[in-house]
Parts: sequence; C-alpha cells; structure tokens
Amino acid sequence: MDDRGHAVTVEGVSLVYGSGAVAVQALDRVDLAVRRGEMLALMGPSGSGKTTLLMIMGCLLRPTSGLVRLLGHSISDFDQAGMARLRLAHVGFIFQSYNLFPALSAVETLRMTLQLKGWPAERARAEAPRLLAQVGLADKLDSMPAQLSGGQKQRVAIARALAGDPEIILGDEPTAALDWRTGRGIMELLHDLARKRDRSVVVVTHDPRVAELADRIVTIADGRIAPKEEVPS
Ligand SMILES: Nc1ncnc2c1ncn2[C@@H]1O[C@H](COP(=O)(O)OP(=O)(O)O)[C@@H](O)[C@H]1O
Ligand SMILES: [Mg+2]
Repeated sequence: MDDRGHAVTVEGVSLVYGSGAVAVQALDRVDLAVRRGEMLALMGPSGSGKTTLLMIMGCLLRPTSGLVRLLGHSISDFDQAGMARLRLAHVGFIFQSYNLFPALSAVETLRMTLQLKGWPAERARAEAPRLLAQVGLADKLDSMPAQLSGGQKQRVAIARALAGDPEIILGDEPTAALDWRTGRGIMELLHDLARKRDRSVVVVTHDPRVAELADRIVTIADGRIAPKEEVPS
C-alpha cells in the first residue's frame, strides 16, 4: 500500500488474545489508513475491537499478524523499547480510564509529560498551564485527580495527549465523561489540530453527534471493518 500522506497504516491486522480454548480473536484482518490532517471517528458495539485497534495504532500493542506503519516506520522493525520511543515521540493517547497518576496535580502531570518528551524544565513549566487552559482547566492547575470530576480528569488526560504536539492523537471515548457542550468543544479543538496543523486524529465514540464532527466514520463489528454502504445511483 502507498504510504504517502498517511500517518498510520494498518494492513491485514489480526489480534488474538490468549490461546487455545480461551483464545479471543479481537481483530480479523483489518485494513485502515489514516491520512495526515484527517479526523476519523471509530464506532461499533461494545467488544467489537475498537480499543484493541486504537492500542495497535498507538504502539501500545503488537498485532498477532499483519503490518502497522507509523509515519513511514514499520513497527515490526522495533522491539518493545523502540515501540515505546516511537509512541512517546509521535503519539498522544487518551485512555478511556484517564490513567492519571494520583500523586501529581494537573500542572505537574503536564510538566512531567513534557519533560519525558525531552523538553527542558523551564519550557515545560511555561507550556503546562497553556495546555490546561486550552481544555478549559486554567483554574484547576494545582488540583489533584481526586479533587477533579470525571469530566475534568478526562480533560487533563486530553491536555496530556496534546503535550508536545504529537502527529497522531488517539482517543478512546475521550468525550464520554463530558457534557455535550464541553465534548463538542474538545472535538472542535481536535478537528482544528487536524486541519490547521496537519495532525491525524482517531476518536472512538458511541455518540453519533460526536462522530458527525469527524471527517470520516469507520464502523467495526466483530473485529472487522464494516464495508462501506453502497451509495444508490
Ligand atoms: N486483555 C484481554 N484479554 C482477553 N480478551 C480481551 C482483552 N482485551 C479485550 N479482550 C476481548 O477482545 C474483544 C475486543 O475488545 P475491545 O477491543 O476492548 O472492544 P471495544 O473497545 O470495541 O469494546 C472483546 O471480546 C474483549 O472481551
Ligand atoms: Mg473499548
């Protein structure tokens, strides 16, 4: 497959959890290419393989078979540490369960993330509040996760995914904990990044209103990408 203009390419990817009698085929020969500058919504019933596919695109999980390319790199050329470096350099991942470190305030979370990405402490100190303000948390800089609502924790997780301006942003139901207005604001922010900064965004969602804000909707069922509906002529 021609890789030009694509940030992430998944080709014939299958993923089997476990083995033998308890094996679960979560993905079955999935093909998907996400362009630079594109925002894609991934929909499908619970258990259809959305999180698994997102984790594979984010270098958090290696497929059982098939090819994955990230910005031209084939991930089969990398060991675990190499995959982690690729992820740190190029991917912002928003976990469904937030994954915030309980002992760090919002602004400390952002500072630490930037420093992990190689930013000098001074620059990280200046950038962290800006990232939180961007998601509407300018007044929560020093709050600890336990002091934040689900929606506010989600927004810290979103700001963390945007830290360092990664080329690829992957969100696992990033707006599920937010009210519609806040969720739409976040989707518009992500869409702007895609369009104006040529980033690639993939968002898993159950909400058709959220999906409609994307450039393209892909549906997955039973580990397979549903074929596009025929357009009647
Ligand atoms: N760590 C795991 N071990 C075994 N089975 C798993 C694991 N994670 C997911 N699964 C199974 O793989 C399938 C796809 O799961 P998942 O990707 O989480 O779907 P979705 O995000 O669409 O709900 C489901 O049948 C789920 O039960
Ligand atoms: Mg899921």
